[in-house]
Amino acid sequence: MAYLVEDKRKVTTHRLIQMKQEGKKIAMLTAYDFTTAQIVDSAGMDVVLVGDSASNVMAGNVTTLPITLDQMIYHAKAVVRATQRALVLCDMPFGTYQVNSTEGVTNAIRIMKESHCDALKLEGGVEIIDTVKKILDAGIPVCGHLGLTPQSINKFGTYTVRAREEAEAAKLISDAHALEDAGCFAVVLEKIPAELAARVTNELKIPVIGIGAGGRCDGQVLVVADMLGMSQGFSPKFLRRYADLNSIMTEAIGNYITDVKSGDFPNKDEEY
Ligand code: KIV
Repeated sequence: MAYLVEDKRKVTTHRLIQMKQEGKKIAMLTAYDFTTAQIVDSAGMDVVLVGDSASNVMAGNVTTLPITLDQMIYHAKAVVRATQRALVLCDMPFGTYQVNSTEGVTNAIRIMKESHCDALKLEGGVEIIDTVKKILDAGIPVCGHLGLTPQSINKFGTYTVRAREEAEAAKLISDAHALEDAGCFAVVLEKIPAELAARVTNELKIPVIGIGAGGRCDGQVLVVADMLGMSQGFSPKFLRRYADLNSIMTEAIGNYITDVKSGDFPNKDEEY
């Protein structure tokens, strides 16, 4: 069952920009595997993000830095196979676009060719703008990502809210404009003051998708394992949990263990 989906056609970057113009909010959620992506897509999601948060969620790494290009392509392929309507956006992982623009374009083309995803997301502003432009010149849609950019966590040294200070806020605003002027179709703003996110949202013509950036963005994104209550020990203020899958799964798995150990499973109806 798809929720509130009026337009059943495949979501495109063009359609997302139209949604902003029409004042329709954009729903984005991460997925990294076939089974989850199928549920997310058929529920009516506009954008499925194959986030490099797969590094944390799927592999248990502390940061997003270790995930490789091959691993991102593996996750993106599985999500693309499962998705019919949503636009599939894939993160370029750390180290695959920061060295120079030639390497960035080569790696971007590889993700597009091998995964068949629809668009790519890169973290950063003016410092990566040449690479962003070259990837766009190659015909690949790009979404920017500003604010708390997890690939720079070692530079920040903290997961606290970004751009509270005037200088960082001013840089974020000019970075957002630079990404729009370069031709990006959207920008993600992570963990910044709601007032600043609202200002960027008003100033840009392209959609602004927030995570921990308040309710006045054009859309929202969350990590699927967090909003379903599967992950443990991660409770930032911005996170709304829509389910407690951790308890549901633990109870179901516990019941299975009990049934196996007692000999109750399988019963006569469950054998050939
Ligand atoms: O990798 C990811 O999940 C992301 C979102 C947090 C926006 O980039």
